[in-house]
Amino acid sequence: MTTPIDLSTLDENGTITRQRAGQPTRWWEDEAAATENRLSLDLTHLFEAPGDPAPMTRKDLDAMADEVAAAHRRLQAGEGDVKDGEVPMLGWQDLPETITAEHLDHVQQAAAALSQRVDAYVSLGIGGSYLGIEATIKALTHTHFNALSRDERGGAPEIYFLGQNMDPDFFRDTLDCLRGKRVGVNVISKSGTTTETAIAFRILRSLLEQSHGPGARELIYATTDARKGALRTLADELGLQTFVVPDDIGGRFSVLSDVGLVGIAVAGIDIHEFVAGFAAMKRRTDGDDLWQNPALLHAAARTLAYRRGKKVEVVATNSVALSNVARYMEQLFPESEGHGAKGLWVSPSVYSEKLHANGQMVQQGERNILETFLSLGTYDSAVQIPHDPADLDGLNYLPAAGRDMAYINGLVVDGPSYAHFQGGVPNMTVTVPARSAYCLGQLYYMLERSVAVSGTLLGHNPFVQPGVVDYKKAIFALAGKPGNEAEAEEMKAEMASRERVVVE
Ligand code: PA5
Repeated sequence: MTTPIDLSTLDENGTITRQRAGQPTRWWEDEAAATENRLSLDLTHLFEAPGDPAPMTRKDLDAMADEVAAAHRRLQAGEGDVKDGEVPMLGWQDLPETITAEHLDHVQQAAAALSQRVDAYVSLGIGGSYLGIEATIKALTHTHFNALSRDERGGAPEIYFLGQNMDPDFFRDTLDCLRGKRVGVNVISKSGTTTETAIAFRILRSLLEQSHGPGARELIYATTDARKGALRTLADELGLQTFVVPDDIGGRFSVLSDVGLVGIAVAGIDIHEFVAGFAAMKRRTDGDDLWQNPALLHAAARTLAYRRGKKVEVVATNSVALSNVARYMEQLFPESEGHGAKGLWVSPSVYSEKLHANGQMVQQGERNILETFLSLGTYDSAVQIPHDPADLDGLNYLPAAGRDMAYINGLVVDGPSYAHFQGGVPNMTVTVPARSAYCLGQLYYMLERSVAVSGTLLGHNPFVQPGVVDYKKAIFALAGKPGNEAEAEEMKAEMASRERVVVE
């Protein structure tokens, strides 16, 4: 019989230790600790990349200082094209300082109350009602969270996401993971009419009702508009506990609102620490001095790159934990900037993996790429590279010099940053000092402020997404949703007028 593998000689798994330890002290209030955990932005490889047909210079960036500061001031004053309907969508700007400790305690208690009653928590939502939550939980928890014991998860239930696509196989497979478990659901939709979320909710609700009858409502939270919308009406009718998506905060800017906080708290992450990170970056980016403000620098660098013909921003991370943060950036930036036939396409990539795929394109393909590295400063776990007496792979020099896997992984940013720069790809590096809620909060606020400025500089309102609304309407019409008959007729006529070009 084969004996199981023995891992007892390895260093401990720091993520499990962190999860088990639960919520630490308010360590970020110590100035030295906060400084050590400050996010940094490195622009060393942004300027004058050899082989770049339209290289950027530091002087170019300096020349944008007034334009960027003016855009920033207008946003802070609530001026310009910032409304969705009648509402200026700027609530996220001050949220880190206006959200109260009492509210956080309330969310934390509600999250704990649901967690205690269930084995598995399912977060239902799409876009801004999904990505920031998954990005945060995956960044801060064990890669195989649901495969751990509850004790190893720090007491948190298993966590699943549904509603982000309509693939029946994915949906059914996820339901299989819930078999025999006590399940809690949080359905998140600001509009309440998003097809994917609504279908997922209908199915989960019916399964819970089959099992629990009217008691199902104790296991369902709804996060939606305070007053209006289909989900608000349904939640009130069912008597569900509800959380609010603020009127003045759009989906992709909502991770610090109840949209993100409930699920993040269910995962055992300290939401007070998360807010502290947002607040620290808000204070750091409130001023208009370009070289003192990482959000403005980030916005200026991306805008300048776009003006110099870059069409693609590869957001590359060497941290699997941060890979979903790169996916969140894939939403935040294009959904805010992609208007009026403008905007940078964001391509999230995990290195080393992608260095062996589209890395070839980054190094030698069309020179229309900006690269942004998301680099993790410290890891939870240390993985040593063993000495091998035969040394046929020639790697003994690494353990001999005391180099572990984290050291090599750092080079997975430093190496490509140098090589891609030499190949004509300007790049910058955002370093996230650690896998902590404080560091992630800083990053999110910097990115939100950056995209608000860069979207404004592109000359449009970065807080609406009419293109997303268009696809929603097209689905309603194609699916035969009542009230969309005219659009359905128009679509049918347009489709019928096209020559069919299909190879079968
Ligand atoms: O950023 C956004 O506003 C969008 O991505 C929305 O969050 C997404 O479309 C989901 O919308 P809703 O929360 O209304 O279901």
